Amino acid sequence: MAEGSVLIVGGTAGLGRALAAHYHERGERVILTGRDADRSSAIAAEIGEGVVGPGVDLSHPDTISRSLAAVGAVSRLVLAAIARDTNAVREYDIAGAISLTTMKLVGYTETIHVLLDRLSDESSVVLYGGRAKDRPYPGSTTVTTVNGGISTLIRTLAIELAPIRFNAIHPGIVGDSPFWEGKPLDAVLARTPTKRLTTMADVVDATVFLLENRAVNGVNLYVDGGWMLL
Ligand SMILES: NC(=O)c1ccc[n+]([C@@H]2O[C@H](COP(=O)([O-])OP(=O)(O)OC[C@H]3O[C@@H](n4cnc5c(N)ncnc54)[C@H](OP(=O)(O)O)[C@@H]3O)[C@@H](O)[C@H]2O)c1
Repeated sequence: MAEGSVLIVGGTAGLGRALAAHYHERGERVILTGRDADRSSAIAAEIGEGVVGPGVDLSHPDTISRSLAAVGAVSRLVLAAIARDTNAVREYDIAGAISLTTMKLVGYTETIHVLLDRLSDESSVVLYGGRAKDRPYPGSTTVTTVNGGISTLIRTLAIELAPIRFNAIHPGIVGDSPFWEGKPLDAVLARTPTKRLTTMADVVDATVFLLENRAVNGVNLYVDGGWMLL
């Protein structure tokens, strides 16, 4: 593996946190971030010794450079942060839409820009999108749009910043993730050919594959049990 830390932006909860725990257990140096430095540090300490947690707010991209100033070499970068903007066009909330659009498109890109002097030719990056880009629901306009943006953003990144590898992961509904746990998901299950919901472990495994396989580049990987087939 390339020299440097595994940096997980949006690593204080859900999938990012599970990935942080995975790489810590593998013996890698892990940095995880959420918006608030105290909360990020506390969660880093829960995961284990040596994990650190600076605060980074992607919805204010002009602050990212300062927030990541103390970070050294980065071998693996994961951009998993999300703020859920349920936003129907008939009652359009501009502030919510701007915040999510900024964090996922400008914030993700600015994070990569800021870290360029700390990424090496052997580094790799995974951006989190999601299947809402292909299966919209009422109120998903911003989520659908930004996740669609992720699927094309990786293409320009992989070309402009070669030989660094850039891939995107698009999970379906992750049934045991904190956001979905306890919510009724029978309709999702009924449309999933594998007859099981995607799990956090499935998504961690797929993310590690994208990060570590040296020939995989510019790929949008769907981890959804074939949800779109039905
Ligand atoms: N869960 C699913 O079923 C599912 C399905 C498809 C796609 N995805 C994608 O997978 C990724 C992870 O989802 P998740 O459900 O695991 O998320 P989650 O549990 O809601 O965690 C979101 C993370 O984003 C951070 N965050 C929120 N606002 C931020 C901001 N302005 N700047 C920086 N960080 C911010 C949160 O940190 P703080 O709260 O500490 O600030 C937290 O670490 C997302 O990109 C999502 O779109 C998830």
